[in-house]
Amino acid sequence: MPVNSRLVTFHAGDSGFWRIISNKPYVGAAWPEAKRLEVSMGEPPNQKSIWQLTGVTSNERYVSRIEKNTLSAKQAPLGRPTADRAALIPIRKTAAWWAMTQDERLAIFAESHNAIGLKFLPAIARRLHHCRDLDTHQPFDFLTWFDYSAADENAFEDLVSALRQTPEWKFVDWEIDIRLRRE
Ligand code: HEM
Repeated sequence: MPVNSRLVTFHAGDSGFWRIISNKPYVGAAWPEAKRLEVSMGEPPNQKSIWQLTGVTSNERYVSRIEKNTLSAKQAPLGRPTADRAALIPIRKTAAWWAMTQDERLAIFAESHNAIGLKFLPAIARRLHHCRDLDTHQPFDFLTWFDYSAADENAFEDLVSALRQTPEWKFVDWEIDIRLRRE
């Protein structure tokens, strides 16, 4: 079988590149604790883990050409040498969100998400993974992944708290906030 290069697996256990420093539900049930996290691209390796979450990177659904150009011009890649902090925030949205049409969801998303997020580029680098269409059951709809420097930790707090006050977040019914350090 060809390798799916858009597949990304986050596995947590006793070993891994990142040390997990906190794991808190923002909304919904708690998620199992683990010491470390590894991120693998392509087919998940056969590795013992406490939990594994898989998603795929995909095409964008919500950005206009102008927004895409603005994002591309401002954003930084993951993995900068200075980015020794990271966050994995798995998110599930409600049945009401998924029952809407694409234009209805866009109207809610476009109210604020991109405008808030843009203020934090290039300090925060990000990658979005979708989980709903995989052939293995996934508990979350999205795995959101970010890295940044220690100096930008407070900015990251401001970013998540601003997003959580938006109308879009009324449709989030499960969100786990996992913070990591490269050590
Ligand atoms: C670094 C600043 C951020 C920027 C610039 C940003 C930008 C974006 C953009 C442009 C999309 C739409 C992608 C598409 O067109 O399909 C998106 C989707 C998403 N973002 Fe962010 N974002 C940021 C931070 C965050 C944070 C901190 C979270 C979580 C707490 C988050 C959660 C999500 C989720 C769950 C989606 C998928 C929404 C859906 O498809 O329903 N984002 N983001």
